[in-house]
Amino acid sequence: MLEDIRTQFSILDQQVHNNKLVYLDNAASTQKPDCVLNAVDNYYKTINSNVHRGVHLLSQLATMEYENARKTVQQFIHAKHHYEIVFTRGTTESINLVAATFGRKFFSKDDEIIISAMEHHSNIVPWQLIAEQVGAKLKIVPITSQGEIEIEAYKNLFSEKTKIVSITHVSNVLGTINPVKEMIQIAHQHQVPVLVDGAQGIKSEQVDVQDLDCDFYCFSGHKIYAPMGIGVLYGKEQYLEQMPPYQGGGEMIQKVTFEKTTFNELPFKFEAGTPNVGGAIGLKAAIEFMQSIGMEQLIAHDQSLMRYAKQQMSLVEGMRFIGEAGQQASVISFILKESHPADVGTLLDMMGIAIRTGHHCAEPLMEVLQIPGTARVSFAAYNTKEEINRLVEALQKISKML
Ligand SMILES: Cc1ncc(COP(=O)(O)O)c(C=O)c1O
Repeated sequence: MLEDIRTQFSILDQQVHNNKLVYLDNAASTQKPDCVLNAVDNYYKTINSNVHRGVHLLSQLATMEYENARKTVQQFIHAKHHYEIVFTRGTTESINLVAATFGRKFFSKDDEIIISAMEHHSNIVPWQLIAEQVGAKLKIVPITSQGEIEIEAYKNLFSEKTKIVSITHVSNVLGTINPVKEMIQIAHQHQVPVLVDGAQGIKSEQVDVQDLDCDFYCFSGHKIYAPMGIGVLYGKEQYLEQMPPYQGGGEMIQKVTFEKTTFNELPFKFEAGTPNVGGAIGLKAAIEFMQSIGMEQLIAHDQSLMRYAKQQMSLVEGMRFIGEAGQQASVISFILKESHPADVGTLLDMMGIAIRTGHHCAEPLMEVLQIPGTARVSFAAYNTKEEINRLVEALQKISKML
């Protein structure tokens, strides 16, 4: 079944520097299957129109498709209500929205925000921006040398001043799958809400926001086979209701006068302006694509590729893995013979193999690890063991050259 789906990704069927492309940069963005491209194309060719305001048929059809996409997301992450799903541009915008609006409502001077040492810049900088405005501060959960959260240290960070915990589900550098459910339980014992950055987590585990009991969950469509520019903020109704709007404009209002404006109901209060209707429709198609294969099967496939790759890559001379957590997603960071990761990435590209190198938008983590960056491979539904064999052969050649 998984072999068949490769034909849906025509982009993979090309040569790069005279070699068949091996795309292993999926943690940055996945490729899009034909069913997603067709859904977006079909929207623009048949019912493109602005949503929510129109009395005409196309607008009604576009509205219906857009709202159906919301229900598909609701069911995908098992949210209690469809209006707890806010469409955004992606994880970055979702976190910025919460930091700005939750922060404006609930933070004051000397309050504390808990994040971890393995966060992406998207889950650091938005909190720094609001912290600076109100005089709050960040507290950082340390990690072990294996790349796991230090749970005891986490427990000790809470105080009466703690207002929120914002933690990544899966590290985009180390691949660590964090014990978010346990971390949420601990935070809730202190009556502190938790935001989960699910940019990598959304495809690494079957996400059930009610079972996790997270207060916010953020993810991007483009990392799960959907187009760029569409993402999701899930928030519990009790918080979304209390938070002020993020941006002002059309859609998010109930009544505007020059003196005062009242705001629309959820989720529209947070969706100012014309939304990305085509993107939402593409996201719906992407979720249906994953569900047609089965999330369990997709996760098992990624896990089996990750384990095979780690085992084969460990045979390459000079291989050093960065991140050795017990629970690891299909993200592998490494340094080869202590060389600069960009050199490894460039040499692999010359052999047709696309990987990512650098600090992966996690500079503070690089500082903790005392490294300039890593080379990173990450897998998706269309990757195969043969592609990993090509990667390992190429790494063996590079190792000899270095
Ligand atoms: C863990 C994590 N958080 C946040 C982001 C930001 O996602 P986006 O750029 O799609 O908003 C990424 C992207 O790589 C990520 O891996």
